[in-house]
Amino acid sequence: MADENLPLHVGIIMDGNGRWAKQRLKPRNYGHDAGMKRVMKLAAHAKDRGIRYLTLYTLSTENLNRPEEELEGIYDLFRKYFGEYAVKLSKENSDVRIIGDISVLPADVQQKMLSACARKVENPDLTVIFAINYGSRAEIVRAANLAVQRGKKVTEEDFSHLLYTDGIPDPDLIIRTGREVRLSNFLLWQAAYAELYFTDILFPDFNNAAFDKALKDYSLRSRRYGKI
Ligand code: IPE
Ligand code: IPE
Ligand code: MG
Repeated sequence: MADENLPLHVGIIMDGNGRWAKQRLKPRNYGHDAGMKRVMKLAAHAKDRGIRYLTLYTLSTENLNRPEEELEGIYDLFRKYFGEYAVKLSKENSDVRIIGDISVLPADVQQKMLSACARKVENPDLTVIFAINYGSRAEIVRAANLAVQRGKKVTEEDFSHLLYTDGIPDPDLIIRTGREVRLSNFLLWQAAYAELYFTDILFPDFNNAAFDKALKDYSLRSRRYGKI
């Protein structure tokens, strides 16, 4: 598959953890735990396949309206996995980056995330970008306010530098697991020309073979960007 047309940047809307747990008569956070475990397998696979950027929709701005118990469980998982993942990724020559507003998270969780992002490697093979308390509309409004503060008109390029994703190329492929066919406020600006791929597979079951199937599908697409 060496000559295959591969995406440089893949975004994944990791949906279906709650339903996966429900199928097993377990609490929702059991599904989130399984999802977090899945993340590292996919990151390793993405790197093996030569993908350079992997953006994982981990927690949306809207998800912050979920019951306190679920959110506390999710924060506990961040506590449990973030440090370990950052060490592992940097050993594998990968970087961690976060997009979104983490300032509303518990202080110790923020600290874990900031130290994960601080472990920079020189020329990362892969950058794993966690979207946390991320919402495109909030991101765009934030960028618009930054532009207003600067007091002069912006071009599309200037504007893209004001987004959380500054310096990251636009996603080529966005995958959504878990059956729903929507973007749920994920990378709306950046996904203007992304290829979209939807699968019924619930995120904890989205294994490397399923990922390869999405990549194969992508490789067969014709991206015209409005041309003929
Ligand atoms: C996605 O899984 C993870 C988060 C949004 C935090 P869900 O928790 O939305 O799982 P479902 O959609 O209820 O199955
Ligand atoms: C999208 O899933 C957010 C993440 C996967 C982090 P949701 O489960 O929150 O999306 P909706 O509510 O079905 O649109
Ligand atoms: Mg969901």
